[in-house]
Amino acid sequence: MKKLVCLLLFLIWTLACFLRAAVAQTSETVPVKVGIVLDLSSSTAKMGLTCINMSLSEFYASHSHYKTRLAFFVRDSSRDVVTAAARAIDLIKTELVQAIIGPSTSMEANFVISLGAEAHVPIVTFSATSTSLASLGSPYFFQIAHNDSAQVNAISSIVQAFRWKEAVPIYVDNGYGQGVVPFLINSLQQAYVRIPYQSAISPSATDEEMKTELKKLMTKQTRVFVVHMPTNIGTRLFPIAKQIGMMSRGYVWIITDGLGNALNSFDSSVIESMQGVLGVKSYVPKTKKLDDFKVRWKRRFAQDNPTLASTNLNAFGLWAYDATTALAMAVEQVGTRNLGFDASNDSGNSYDLESLGVSRNGETLREALSRIRFRGLSGEFKVVDGQLPASTFEIVNVVANGQRTIGFWTSQNGLVRNLNSTSKKDLAAVIWPGDTKSIPRGWEIPINGTKLRVGVPVKAGYTEFVKATFNPATNQTEITGFCIDVFKAVVRALPYELPYEFIPFPKMEAVISTTPIYNDLITQVYLGNFDAAVGDVTIIANRSNYVDFTLPYTESGVTMIVPVKDKRKKNAWAFLGPLTWDLWVTMACSFVFIGFVVWVLEHRINEHFRGPPSHQIGTSLWFSFSIMVFAHRERVVSNLSRFVVIIWIFVVLILIQSYTASLTSLLTVEQLTPTVDDVNLLIKNRLNVGYMEGSFVYGVLKDMGFQDYQLKIYNSIESFHKLFERGVENGGIAAAFDEIPYVKLFLGNYCSKYTMADPTFKTGGFGFVFPKEFPLVADISRAILNVTQGNKMKRLESEWFNGNNCPDSKALVSSTSLGLESFWGLFLIAGLASILALIIFAVTFLYQNRNIWSLYNPGASIWTRIKMLVRIFDQRDESSHTFKRKEDKSEAASTHGPSAMEASPTSQCPPSPSSEAESDFSFNGDGAVCSEEFNEAYPNSFLPQNVEITVRHWIQPT
Ligand SMILES: *[C@@H]1O[C@H](CO)[C@@H](O)[C@H](O)[C@H]1NC(C)=O
Ligand SMILES: *[C@@H]1O[C@H](CO)[C@@H](O)[C@H](O)[C@H]1NC(C)=O
Ligand SMILES: *[C@@H]1O[C@H](CO)[C@@H](O)[C@H](O)[C@H]1NC(C)=O
Ligand SMILES: *[C@@H]1O[C@H](CO)[C@@H](O)[C@H](O)[C@H]1NC(C)=O
Repeated sequence: MKKLVCLLLFLIWTLACFLRAAVAQTSETVPVKVGIVLDLSSSTAKMGLTCINMSLSEFYASHSHYKTRLAFFVRDSSRDVVTAAARAIDLIKTELVQAIIGPSTSMEANFVISLGAEAHVPIVTFSATSTSLASLGSPYFFQIAHNDSAQVNAISSIVQAFRWKEAVPIYVDNGYGQGVVPFLINSLQQAYVRIPYQSAISPSATDEEMKTELKKLMTKQTRVFVVHMPTNIGTRLFPIAKQIGMMSRGYVWIITDGLGNALNSFDSSVIESMQGVLGVKSYVPKTKKLDDFKVRWKRRFAQDNPTLASTNLNAFGLWAYDATTALAMAVEQVGTRNLGFDASNDSGNSYDLESLGVSRNGETLREALSRIRFRGLSGEFKVVDGQLPASTFEIVNVVANGQRTIGFWTSQNGLVRNLNSTSKKDLAAVIWPGDTKSIPRGWEIPINGTKLRVGVPVKAGYTEFVKATFNPATNQTEITGFCIDVFKAVVRALPYELPYEFIPFPKMEAVISTTPIYNDLITQVYLGNFDAAVGDVTIIANRSNYVDFTLPYTESGVTMIVPVKDKRKKNAWAFLGPLTWDLWVTMACSFVFIGFVVWVLEHRINEHFRGPPSHQIGTSLWFSFSIMVFAHRERVVSNLSRFVVIIWIFVVLILIQSYTASLTSLLTVEQLTPTVDDVNLLIKNRLNVGYMEGSFVYGVLKDMGFQDYQLKIYNSIESFHKLFERGVENGGIAAAFDEIPYVKLFLGNYCSKYTMADPTFKTGGFGFVFPKEFPLVADISRAILNVTQGNKMKRLESEWFNGNNCPDSKALVSSTSLGLESFWGLFLIAGLASILALIIFAVTFLYQNRNIWSLYNPGASIWTRIKMLVRIFDQRDESSHTFKRKEDKSEAASTHGPSAMEASPTSQCPPSPSSEAESDFSFNGDGAVCSEEFNEAYPNSFLPQNVEITVRHWIQPT
């Protein structure tokens, strides 16, 4: 049963399949008429036609079930706008085509697009790329190509990447050329590239006319050309350019995709003339499918056009192929229900535009076509705003007999070496016209000669800046000087070569004048007699109205220069100068204090610090002050005082060193101070001031309020010096005003006599002069920065201005006295150490004599106790090892006997009677106290027992 059902189902299924196939076989396919209007004489159209036919057959071969079949009606537009329009009208009116593929060129397309819009017939072009077509705004126009303006950013990126500052568009003077130029200029200007001029070449220009136009470009300075032309003119342009020498070293040619896409079809003679050209091409992803197609196409094209062997498939053909596929898909989607036209008022005249019908299917077909998406030969096919969107371009370099891809441009990443890398990298190396690898700088010196004619101001004075000497041996004028050397260094720092020659101005034969020539020189540059001026030319606002200045290469500003006087202290009290008074006083107090501390610490145990009070005071002060020169002879024996003394010696060492250094500089270093440091004083006292002849400083001085009679002229370093020498009373000057470079020159010559003084007025400094809008100015300014920031400038300055021999006048500040603020830390340390030592001493002392001040001894009043302590302090500390050593010595000298005891000072403790104990302390001659501590410390002492008893007796209460 089951088997039966299965069999039945299988039969039914087989039948269904058979029926379906039969229906497909038998059902009629409906032809849908599509017109083709192309300029059949052009190779692009021929290529397109082959692609269209191949597309159609291949598409229906793989989509045999489609009910519609495109039927083509091909018309030749004969590269004529009117014919193209007539053919289109004819197709619409008589053939009732549903769509038109074509026309070839943007000019032809213009009117056909309007017709299509009128008749609701989609116009699909694959080769009319002008941006202006889209702006017609026709919804029935499909530009299955990259519009021309899509590539302008790629072009400006290239120009920017090679840092060219100017570019000249050369374009064909018709709708195709004019359409892109506004976009190109806009994009270049956004990349800060100047468009000095544009060159429009008529589409019907003869070779001679083209040559004239190119020769005109040759005389201009820009060497970067962007060529936007259709192939028929472009292939004529380059051989002519090569012929007149514009395909040589220094030139840059960039072609847009109009020529770039067709590069692979050019004759080898054209390619030969295009060596080094950079090109922009529409990017087509390389796929297996594409490679296979190329092979098939080659065969088919050779069949169709046996005479056109050199034509190769390019992007236009692929777009034609894809456009046809898309149209076939769209037509199938729309179906065949409404193929007719709404008849409109037909007056019988087939060229009457008013009588065009309106395609019923038009609107749906247009919508279907805009929605079509598939993977075509040229990449992802989709229509955005009636156009094939473009986001990637290939950059190629024409080399040898073909082209080499040197990079890509994508709208997201700009120029990239290959498409997978997102990081910006340089393009691959380019072979430029003239078979060179060095990047052309993009401009030529805008002069007839080959060298930059540099005017140099020649005058009598200030030859350090510019000096011209005629050398009869070589019959040449040699020009030297600081400004010249700077210019040479700057030119060397330029990234390219800049040939130049110096021309003295005025002519060497003319009497060399001392009168100013700068303004005349600038006029010469303005008039174009010189290409530049190099010399001590100051940048002034007024001058910059006529010429362009580079950045200044010298310090800028006008400053006052005045004689100096030495204010070194040469009096008897100069030695006090290095230290301030408070430091002196502090030092003196410290010496006394340290003397006191040492006395306190040493007094009891050091024989040197004993004796009559005057001697003690003298010794203490002597000791303390002699430390100053480290000449103290007294040995200190207490560790505490050693501690204090060693710190004090350290302090004194530093003070002495500082004093010595300060005194040295005070007495030996010149202390030059300006004689005048106030301009107002000069004005008020009506003193004369000087300025350089012909200098704009005159105006500055007048502005400040100087009167004419106060102003004296000098025109050389010598006359400048003489004016000062003469003295103010005899018509000399008290100060001079000049630009800083000149002032440096004066100072280099008269180093110790003059100095710069405030005020400084800001001015432009010296700069190089170029005609307005000269393309080199920015580059030279950059090179000037390179030179001035490096060591080179310093070297040049010292070479010419003797500058290194002079100390900087601003650095000549008078050395100030050393004050307490630099040293109080030292005093603090010494003071703290001393006080610490005193405290330790006091604690030890009081502890040793604790029975004197303890309550154990209530009978004695405070005063008595203090007096007792003072007494004890005043006595020798017999327990000290210093004394003990002496005793040891005397002991060794004699036997233990009373005589020896008596000789020893310690043995002379008074046999004080008890009555004495109340009235007074008993001292022996040397003030040594006899205490019980002594016995405690030295139990086996030789001290007689009676001494101890006596002491006990007067200490203990009676
Ligand atoms: C066509 O002719 C009809 C009358 O015959 C008229 O009403 C209509 O406006 C005409 N259409 C056009 C587009 O001229
Ligand atoms: C030209 O193509 C580019 C890239 O597809 C697009 O962004 C631009 O809008 C187009 N220009 C015009 C005028 O349609
Ligand atoms: C670029 O990346 C794609 C995949 O993203 C890869 O197929 C292709 O080979 C890569 N090309 C290169 C040159 O690396
Ligand atoms: C020196 O040069 C000038 C022009 O540059 C020329 O007229 C003159 O004959 C030359 N004199 C000699 C001796 O070469």
